[in-house]
Amino acid sequence: MALGERRWTWEPGKFWLIWDMDQIRSGLAQPIVYSGGMFARFFSKPKKFPMTQPLKPPSHRYTHHLGPTPLVPVCLAPGEPSIWCKLEFLNPSGSTKDRIARHILDKAWRMGIVGAETIVAEASSGSTSISFALACAQMGIRFVAFMPEGVSAERVMMIKAYGSEVCLTPKEAGIRGSIEGTLKLATSDPRVFLPKQFENPSNSEAHKIQTAREILDQAPGNRVDAVVSGVGTGGTLVGLYQGLSAAGCEVVPVLARPVHQGQTMELECCSFSSRIPGVLDSMSEIFRTAHLPGLLTMEIRDEEAIQIARSLIRMGFPVGPSSGLNFAAARMAAKSLGRADAVIVTVFPDRMERYFSTELFQKNPALAPR
Ligand SMILES: Cc1ncc(COP(=O)(O)O)c(C=O)c1O
Repeated sequence: MALGERRWTWEPGKFWLIWDMDQIRSGLAQPIVYSGGMFARFFSKPKKFPMTQPLKPPSHRYTHHLGPTPLVPVCLAPGEPSIWCKLEFLNPSGSTKDRIARHILDKAWRMGIVGAETIVAEASSGSTSISFALACAQMGIRFVAFMPEGVSAERVMMIKAYGSEVCLTPKEAGIRGSIEGTLKLATSDPRVFLPKQFENPSNSEAHKIQTAREILDQAPGNRVDAVVSGVGTGGTLVGLYQGLSAAGCEVVPVLARPVHQGQTMELECCSFSSRIPGVLDSMSEIFRTAHLPGLLTMEIRDEEAIQIARSLIRMGFPVGPSSGLNFAAARMAAKSLGRADAVIVTVFPDRMERYFSTELFQKNPALAPR
């Protein structure tokens, strides 16, 4: 169904006016029920959907009123084709993970799995935790973030500022140690809800029904030829590919993979995967089990990713390192597709402010005192 399209359904004694099934599933809209038959449908007051727990809507809960993030053409060097970049750093907490946090929590709330007494616990290297911290602050529920030691101080501060708790797990155990931490908490306390971003299909579903649809509406000619993303959980790449191909695009999925040389770099969720080659696929159940025919992999040196992120910042895009990675891979994909008119879409996942204490800024020659 198209956005905002209405659908009538008849059931004995009831007429249902449903605005958009995908919007309802994603929590962007509530179905309205008119009861009492043909006549009453014009006069009766709308009632809430009877079979679900209504979404808790504190009056300040603004995340339901947000519009799509912009999709803009970006070109770093003269003569190169533009890459269409989705400015996901403009989401409320500063990253694309706001989409999955809202979608997973709303869905769980409606199904009655999450309520006012719930404690949400999630493992991440930062962005997802910040998004859950914001979403839980809006819903008035507790959130505990499990992250490996060594994540940037900015992230810890943001999560705490939203009133959430932070539990740092041993650095050597990486993200797996954080996941174990959430599992232990869940076994010791029945109030704990685990979103499990690495395996929860609602993760990629959020991108399939929201982000992909926005991109289709915004892309020139309403078509996309290739979609490029780094993979942490795989939710972005898998969801975008599924959403775009379900809408009829012949889209090539492209994996942006950072290649490290010696030192481990802070490339957000891609960092733990590329630190140990091969871990990527086993970490993300979503990515590992997805059907991505014709998947291309673009390997990008971490120095290049950081350099491009700095160039994007100088152009006025306040992005983190993974945007540099995605952009570099998208440029490479444009070359390998070899079609001047190809519409290549990528994502700028998050904002630069959470990287002030990392290499992106600390070793940035442009910031050195003159
Ligand atoms: C900051 C950031 N957020 C999100 C993503 C995408 O992650 P996922 O595969 O978990 O959707 C990436 C990967 O490029 C990233 O670096």
